[in-house]
Amino acid sequence: MTVAIIGGTGPQGKGLALRFAQAGIPVVLGSRDAERAAESAAELQQQLDNGAATISGSDNLGATAQADELVILAVPYSAHDATLEQLKPALTDKVLVDIVVPLAPGNPKAVEMPPEGSATEAAQALLGEEIPVVGALHNVSATTLNNLEQPINCDILVCGNQLDAKKKVISLLQSLDVKAYNAGLAESARCIEAITPILIRLNISKDVPFTHAGISIQPPRH
Ligand SMILES: NC(=O)c1ccc[n+]([C@@H]2O[C@H](COP(=O)([O-])OP(=O)(O)OC[C@H]3O[C@@H](n4cnc5c(N)ncnc54)[C@H](OP(=O)(O)O)[C@@H]3O)[C@@H](O)[C@H]2O)c1
Repeated sequence: MTVAIIGGTGPQGKGLALRFAQAGIPVVLGSRDAERAAESAAELQQQLDNGAATISGSDNLGATAQADELVILAVPYSAHDATLEQLKPALTDKVLVDIVVPLAPGNPKAVEMPPEGSATEAAQALLGEEIPVVGALHNVSATTLNNLEQPINCDILVCGNQLDAKKKVISLLQSLDVKAYNAGLAESARCIEAITPILIRLNISKDVPFTHAGISIQPPRH
């Protein structure tokens, strides 16, 4: 099942591509520049064993067309709506996985949510209910994803208005050996997206003796 990553030449997209390919899931990286996507794909493939799935590259529309079903949006928030407008005709019968965090311009320790409430909700409004949008992967650090020596150090909160679409995304994420939880409707993204600047704040704080922290859901300890 080929997964497309739009904006896949950035650190988050590349890290996800490495993890999926290592888990045997083919990936097509999307970029505004097909050549850049192909170069990034070749670089990433070199980091993987022969047993890994293929990472290829294409322009963003071509990558969307090549996805069997799941298309991950990994562009900066400033490019969120314009990229979705461009991709919308190619997203019929697919699920859009929105990982974009609407960080405040010039201040990564805060979010500036769109009028719809969150980037995930803005995507759902823009695409219409026929194209399911699932919010996920907002709280995972690119550094962690790109370091294949380390397991992914967090759980993933997944939200969206269509249960089947969320189940497909949760099943994909479980292939990365992480716990993924159904965290409710798309409006839950208001909280989930807003966790990221808190993690960024902690990770750059001198009072916290580690970086690239994640969040996890802990059962009670007896
Ligand atoms: N980095 C993290 O640790 C992290 C963690 C959690 C969530 N996220 C979210 O994941 C997304 C990607 O993060 P990132 O750090 O990889 O971002 P990034 O490096 O800033 O951008 C990713 C890619 O988006 C494309 N892009 C840049 N400007 C664009 C524009 N104006 N229009 C269309 N495409 C554009 C670029 O690809 P081309 O030039 O090849 O088109 C770029 O390589 C962000 O929304 C971020 O909030 C990131």
